Amino acid sequence: MKIDILTIFPEMFEGFLSTSIIKRAIQDNKVEIKIHDIRKYSNDPHKKVDDYGYGGGRGMVLMPEPIFNAVDDIKTDSSKIILMTPQGKTYKQTMAYDLAKENHIIIICGHYEGFDERIRTLADIEISIGDYVLTGGELPSMVITDSIVRLLDGVIEKESHINDSFNNGMLDYPVYTKPVNFRGMKVPEVLLSGHHANIKKYREEEALKKTKARRPDLLEGDKNE
Ligand code: ADE
Repeated sequence: MKIDILTIFPEMFEGFLSTSIIKRAIQDNKVEIKIHDIRKYSNDPHKKVDDYGYGGGRGMVLMPEPIFNAVDDIKTDSSKIILMTPQGKTYKQTMAYDLAKENHIIIICGHYEGFDERIRTLADIEISIGDYVLTGGELPSMVITDSIVRLLDGVIEKESHINDSFNNGMLDYPVYTKPVNFRGMKVPEVLLSGHHANIKKYREEEALKKTKARRPDLLEGDKNE
C-alpha cells in the first residue's frame, strides 16, 4: 500500500511518521507514506498556494493549480483520491476496512478557510472525521491513515483488530491487566478462571451491555449507514 498526502504543512507529519506502529509499518515495508508539499507544485514565482476568494467574505482560499499539478504528477490508474473536508462523508470503521484494500491512496488536505470548489472534481471521495471544524485537513488525514495502516496485514496482530470496537457493530469488551486487586477494584473472577467458553460468554455480554448503555445507535444497524 502506498499513501501520498498533499499538504501545505508537511512538518506536521514528522512525529506521526516517526513514532510507534506507523514508524514500524514503514520500516517493515507494509506501507509507503510520502508527504508532498503543495507549494512545490505552484507555478507562481513566490510559490503561492492560496489567494482571496472571489466575491469577498472569506480569508485565503487554496488555489486549484498547485493541487491539480500535484495530483497529475502522483496519480496512477489505480489511485483512490480522498479530499479531507468537514463537508465530506463521516468517517467510520467500515470505511477504514474498505480503504485498507486499496493499493494507492492520495489524500488532499483542505485548508480551514476553504479551498477552490474545482478541487472537489479531483476526489473519488470526500471524508470528514466528525462534525467539528479543524484548522486544516492534516490531522484528519493522519486519523484516517492511522486507522488504515493498523489494518494492513502484519502491522498489528489480527486478533487485536478483530476485537476492535465497531467491529461486529459493537463496542469492545473491557480488558484488565495486573494487579488482580487495584485499590479495591478487582479483576472479574471469570477472567482468572482459565475457562475459555465462560470468558467468551462474559466478553460478549459485557460488549453488548456497554454498547446498549453508551452507543445504542450502533445496535440499530442500517440506520448508521
Ligand atoms: N478539515 C477541517 N475539519 C475537518 C474535519 N472535521 N474532517 C475532515 N477534514 C477537516
